[in-house]
Amino acid sequence: MTKILTVIGTRPQFIKAAAVSRAIQENGSIREVLLHTGQHYDDVMSDIFFREMHIPKPDYHFSINNSTHATMTAQMLEGIESAIIKEKPDYVLVYGDTNSTLAGALAASKLHVPVAHVEAGLRSFNMDMPEEVNRILTDRISTKLFCPTDTAIHNLEHEGLATPDKIVVKTGDVMYDAALYYAKQAHDKSTIHESLKLKKGEYLLVTVHRAENTDDKRRLSAIVDAINTLSKRYQVVLPLHPRTKKMLEQYSLPLNCIVTEPVGYFDMIALIQDCMMVLTDSGGLQKEAYFFHKYCITLRDQTEWVELMKGGCSVIAGTNKELILESVATMCDKEFHNGSVFYGDGHASQVICNYLSAK
Ligand code: UD1
Ligand code: UDP
Repeated sequence: MTKILTVIGTRPQFIKAAAVSRAIQENGSIREVLLHTGQHYDDVMSDIFFREMHIPKPDYHFSINNSTHATMTAQMLEGIESAIIKEKPDYVLVYGDTNSTLAGALAASKLHVPVAHVEAGLRSFNMDMPEEVNRILTDRISTKLFCPTDTAIHNLEHEGLATPDKIVVKTGDVMYDAALYYAKQAHDKSTIHESLKLKKGEYLLVTVHRAENTDDKRRLSAIVDAINTLSKRYQVVLPLHPRTKKMLEQYSLPLNCIVTEPVGYFDMIALIQDCMMVLTDSGGLQKEAYFFHKYCITLRDQTEWVELMKGGCSVIAGTNKELILESVATMCDKEFHNGSVFYGDGHASQVICNYLSAK
C-alpha cells in the first residue's frame, strides 16, 4: 500500500483533488491522508465543494489564511511538517500553483519525502505572478511531475527537469475528468438560471480574481468599464471572488451587472454549459469553457493554456476594453469549432494513481 499525504487549500485544488481522490478510492492500493491548509475558508469557497463533490473530510484542517504570502507560507510549512513527521507518507501530493502547493512541496522536500505534482510544467513566463514562482519552485523539487499537456512536458524539458531519475509524464488534465464526471449532475441539480433569471444561451459569464488584475486599480477599472459597457447590451453574470470584492470596495468601483457570491461547482458548471461566452482571468475556467465548447476571452496578458489560444478557442484580451468588446462581438456569432483534444480522455486521475501506486 502506498501512503500519500495530499495538501490542498484553495478552490481549484478542491476540484482537482475531488477527481483524484475518487480514483484513489477506486484504485485500492493507495491510502490517502488529506490536509487542508485553510487558505480558502468561506463556505462558498471551501466546504461547498467537499459536500457537492463528496471529497473525504480532511484528516488535518488548519486555518492559515488572510495574511501576507510569506507569513501564510511559513505557517503552512510548520503545520505540514508536523503532519508529515506524524504520518510518514511515501509521497506528498500537491496541485497547481498556490501558496498551499509550494508549502506542501517545500515541507516534504526538507524531510526528504518525494513530492508528486499534479499540473506540473505550466508556465506563464511572468515572474511577477506569485503562481509562476510557486510552480517553478514546486516542479524543481518534485520527483513525479504529472503534466496536463504537451506544452507542459516541453517546458520541463527546456528547463532540464525531465531527467531519468524523475517521472515526467503527460497524464491529461484532472479538471477535464471532474467536468465530465459532474456535468450531468450539474445540469440536473443546479437552479442558478432560475434564481438569477438568466436567459440560457444569451448571457456572458465573467470571473475575475487574479492579483495582477485586482490589485492594480488601472487594470481593475478597465475590466469594470468593459463589463459595465457589455451589460448594457447583454446579461452579464459575475460570481464575485472575495479578493475582487474587497478591492472593488477599496477602489470604489461600481459594477453594473448580475453579481453573486462565489457559486458552488455544480452551479458554475451549469453556468458554463448554458452561457454564450466566458470572460475570465481564471486558469480553470479557461479550460472549462473549452470542455463545454464555449469561447473564452482571457482577461490576462498571457496564459499557461497556450493550446486554447493557438487552437482559436480563446483570445488573450488582457484588460484592453476595445479588444474585449471587439472579441465578444466577433465570437458571439461564431459557431464553436475545435477538432483537437488538448486535455486527455477524462482518465488523467487514474493514470496519476497508477504512477502513485508504483512506488
Ligand atoms: C489563491 C491563489 C491563486 C488561485 C486562487 C483561486 C496564491 C498565491 N493564490 O488566490 O493562485 O488562482 O487562490 O481562487 O496562492 N478570502 C476570503 N474568503 C476565502 C478565501 C479568501 O475572504 O474563503 C480573501 C482572503 O482573506 C484574502 C483574499 O481573499 O484577503 C485573497 O485570498 P488568497 O488565498 O490570499 O488568494 P486568492 O486571491 O484567493
Ligand atoms: N469556480 C466555482 N465557483 C466560482 C468560481 C469558480 O466553482 O464562483 C470553479 C471553476 O469552475 C473552476 C475553479 O473554480 O473549476 C477555478 O478556480 P479559480 O478561478 O478560483 O482559480 P484558478 O483556476 O484561476 O487557479
